Amino acid sequence: MNEKQDLKNAIAELKEARKAIILAHNYQPAEIQEIADLTGDSLELSRRATETDARVIVFCGVHFMAETAAILNPDKTVLLPNVQAGCAMADMIKAQDVRGVAEAHPGVPIITYVNSTAEVKAESTTCCTSANVNQVVASFAQADTLYMIPDQNLALYAARHTSKQILYWKGYCPVHHSLRADTVLKRKAQHPEALFLAHPECRPEVLDLADVVTSTSGMLRYVRESDHHTFLIGTEVGILHPMRRDNPDKTLIPVSEEMVCLDMKKTSLADVRQSLETLTPRIEVPEPIRLKALQAVERMLAI
Ligand code: 13P
Ligand code: SF4
Repeated sequence: MNEKQDLKNAIAELKEARKAIILAHNYQPAEIQEIADLTGDSLELSRRATETDARVIVFCGVHFMAETAAILNPDKTVLLPNVQAGCAMADMIKAQDVRGVAEAHPGVPIITYVNSTAEVKAESTTCCTSANVNQVVASFAQADTLYMIPDQNLALYAARHTSKQILYWKGYCPVHHSLRADTVLKRKAQHPEALFLAHPECRPEVLDLADVVTSTSGMLRYVRESDHHTFLIGTEVGILHPMRRDNPDKTLIPVSEEMVCLDMKKTSLADVRQSLETLTPRIEVPEPIRLKALQAVERMLAI
């Protein structure tokens, strides 16, 4: 038996013994997605974290995702198998910056993308994800102005779907922000028959070229349900694994092979086994911050 299969067997045994569930984001390496009980986008994984009766949640993703699971599940052990897996965008704003925003814009609700630290969520009115951002914005029926953090591109995308004034922090995801319109145009010229799907973390001029703008799971659903045959995929390349598995007869082309999130690739099978063996690295959020962040996450989940 090969080494990879040995690791997978060991993980399956330990998972049983620990009464654990393994959640994996759509960008995780293929072998990690294969051992997961559930794969999904940030919203699906947050919801699933609230529904499980497992005692241990092994979160194969990046730090903010495991932190969200810890915010929602104070009585469970939440593990991030590779603690080095962070998110460059989440690190672009700190809690004191959010307090500054609140002081500068009194009374303006602050909508925070889940790609943020627990401390930042704790200073926010509500959270959103790429899957529900427009519904979250619309839920503030009485507000004329909203402030969105940390992703400028998500804010500009939301601004297209509302008459409210959207102010925003100028953070960005380096993986999506680096995709340029001319790269998309070149790929479209090579594949004129393809539909172009883009993640809302892409620049506005890239979204202008998209046939569909949606979250990672939104893309998976769209490709599965569409009668179309060829797609250009405008998000992190890890999504090609589940997409190709689900659609063996369709042609799925990354719009740029350079869209790789190195943090999303840090988790290995060996990390997952070690994490289940030692029940580390454990992600914990100090209770006063957790309670405040929970309000923002729960407000989102209620929508
Ligand atoms: P989704 O919520 O669409 O899965 O996106 C998460 C993410 O990190 C995108 O870069
Ligand atoms: Fe963060 Fe971008 Fe990586 Fe998503 S793809 S985890 S937003 S750095």
